[in-house]
Amino acid sequence: MALRKIKENIYNVGAIDWDRTLFDELVPLPEGTSYNAFIVKGSEKTAMIDSVEPAKQEEFVRNIKEYGLERLDYLICNHAEQDHSGLIPLVLEMFPEARLVTNEKCKGFLQDLLPIDEERFDIVKDGDILSLGDKTLEFIFAALVHWPETMFTYLREDRILFSGDFLGSHLATSETFSRDDAQTQMAAMRYYAEIMMPFRAMIQKHLKKLENYEIEMVCPVHGPVYKNPEFIMNLYREWTSDQVSNKVIIPFVSMHGSIRTVVEHLTDELSRRGIEVIQINMIESELGKLTSELVDSATVVFAGSTVLTGPHPTMVYAAAVINALRPKLKNVALLTSFGWASKCTDTMKVLLPNFKNQIFDSYDFKGHPKAEDLERISELADQILERHQALGLL
Ligand code: FEO
Repeated sequence: MALRKIKENIYNVGAIDWDRTLFDELVPLPEGTSYNAFIVKGSEKTAMIDSVEPAKQEEFVRNIKEYGLERLDYLICNHAEQDHSGLIPLVLEMFPEARLVTNEKCKGFLQDLLPIDEERFDIVKDGDILSLGDKTLEFIFAALVHWPETMFTYLREDRILFSGDFLGSHLATSETFSRDDAQTQMAAMRYYAEIMMPFRAMIQKHLKKLENYEIEMVCPVHGPVYKNPEFIMNLYREWTSDQVSNKVIIPFVSMHGSIRTVVEHLTDELSRRGIEVIQINMIESELGKLTSELVDSATVVFAGSTVLTGPHPTMVYAAAVINALRPKLKNVALLTSFGWASKCTDTMKVLLPNFKNQIFDSYDFKGHPKAEDLERISELADQILERHQALGLL
């Protein structure tokens, strides 16, 4: 994808990855992704903000050449992860005069990850500014709005926030700017769920801090640029708020139909009580379905078969994902079917340390569910109803 103009003297020389299907060997990318790198030209100096994924070197270099960049004074690194830092050594080689501008913590990470000469670094502190002549860059530290070294760069005169991964989306598109449509919202929500959700509290804090800045445009490193920052900022305010929805997610796996019977029964019982249910078949569903639903759900009920005496591996996977992403769940319950013995409940509790206070019920039943088992599931639906009522959800 060619060079894209953001505004006079501001260009995106990054690359679009239409074909990438997996990030971190974990996160599915149904819409591909992009790696944005921005050139900001002032009256006296020129800066580049972030680089791109090494696999996209050819496109990145082509765009730099198309721009006609002859001198680069500053390469700013907002975040050390390799999909944005990986080509820093190349840029420093192409522009021997360029200074690598970042914070102390990020410098340490970059030195761990990449071969970069100590002499090339200029270290900035929170609130420091860097003049490009008629343009001024301000550095805003945002530790743990992703990684511990994360920072934003704010271009004062143009009121543009270069936000790094924050507010981004895994969305390959030829459009430079967000259409603020359902496709963008869905991609941004998946991205929030899979990348940003564990940092919800820090994001809340930094959304407040950013209210002190006049922001006319947000340039993240993945996905389109937002000309209407309120579109994405309001979504983040909603997603990171403490408010949950009247919704129950049921990640399940059923080896011989017993769990499926129970899941169907629970779905019917919850639905009759006015509660939305999302079934996630852990064999058929991709990760993004589970993570997206976790953004606002009030309750999760794990429902899994026993393998030997432990939980089915897909339940272990679901528990590990949910525990790591720390969604704002209020209630967690555990259901298991077993043949001769089960330690599933104990194991699942160990796998969910971040939700030990939210686990309110567990039920193990032997073989195919009998009438008394289904009655017990109806009681679980009653408990969930009471809990949702207590939260003011219905
Ligand atoms: Fe897109 Fe944290 O890297």
